[in-house]
Amino acid sequence: MVKKQKIIIDCDPGHDDAINIMLAGSSDKLDVLGITVVAGNQTIEKTVKNALRVCQYLDLSYPVYAGCPQPMIRARQMIADDIHGETGLDGPVFPELTRNAEDIHAVLFLIDTIMKSEGDIIITPTGPLTNIAMAMRLEPKIVPKIKRIVLMGGSYQMGNVTPAAEFNIIADADAAHVVFSSGVPLTMCGLDVTRKVLCFPEIVDRMRKIGNKAASLFADLMTYFNKSQKEVFGWDGGPLHDPVTVASILEPELLKIKPMYTEIDIRGLGSYGRTNCDYFGYSKRTPNVDVAIDIDVEKFWDTIGAGIKAYSA
Ligand code: BDR
Ligand code: CA
Repeated sequence: MVKKQKIIIDCDPGHDDAINIMLAGSSDKLDVLGITVVAGNQTIEKTVKNALRVCQYLDLSYPVYAGCPQPMIRARQMIADDIHGETGLDGPVFPELTRNAEDIHAVLFLIDTIMKSEGDIIITPTGPLTNIAMAMRLEPKIVPKIKRIVLMGGSYQMGNVTPAAEFNIIADADAAHVVFSSGVPLTMCGLDVTRKVLCFPEIVDRMRKIGNKAASLFADLMTYFNKSQKEVFGWDGGPLHDPVTVASILEPELLKIKPMYTEIDIRGLGSYGRTNCDYFGYSKRTPNVDVAIDIDVEKFWDTIGAGIKAYSA
């Protein structure tokens, strides 16, 4: 039997984070060791609740750990209620929540689990990088023990919060700096590729027709998400950002990668929070990030469809 890939999902659910959890939960190729949650799309209380809601609804027994409620240095937590609503997961109606988060803090779970590992864990962050950076600062010995980080965040082209910066990075740019400069092998699934997987109404219909629990959750989530994406960005299909991370682990051919030296702008004004990716190698510095520059869109939707179908009833 092929060994399952161990992963830890670090997230801030969030509609697309929820679908990323769904995708991970559908696969027998992955061993999800836990879900660590961070503030981002909404406050930590709400993102933790949302992670639990999704797991409970889909019968996924993964332990959920509450993490950092605010960025490492900056006092104010940026949220994205314009996109994800008042709850952070507006749209679907969930049954009453009976599950609870674990007692241990997400950062301590990360440290403990990675230290006890054989260096075989991939982390898939899909929110601000606060938990991961805090874990690296609290116990630097974890750094060489992380197999890879496959994250959603950044852009080598345009941002989505400012012309320069993407939400997960600008929400805690200092944390992103710690992670990007850590030396851990890193794959950046940024807006450059996630804005190619636009969830048009035809896709929502295609997934809804699968007809099981996961299909209706997908459709309810994306119907709300598309409405707010239309209001904020003017397009008819919202980019399904976060599931690009897990999909790229399941389908190694999904992304086209270009290694680039990448630094986070933590000093700029207009470009604060930008992932400065040295596409042309001007700096002559050794690339530290595998930047995703293209995605097989059809394969992506097939992967999402197969993930939904894997759930019963
Ligand atoms: C990222 O920001 C969040 O709103 C989404 O969940 C995604 O992780 C896209 O910029
Ligand atoms: Ca997210």
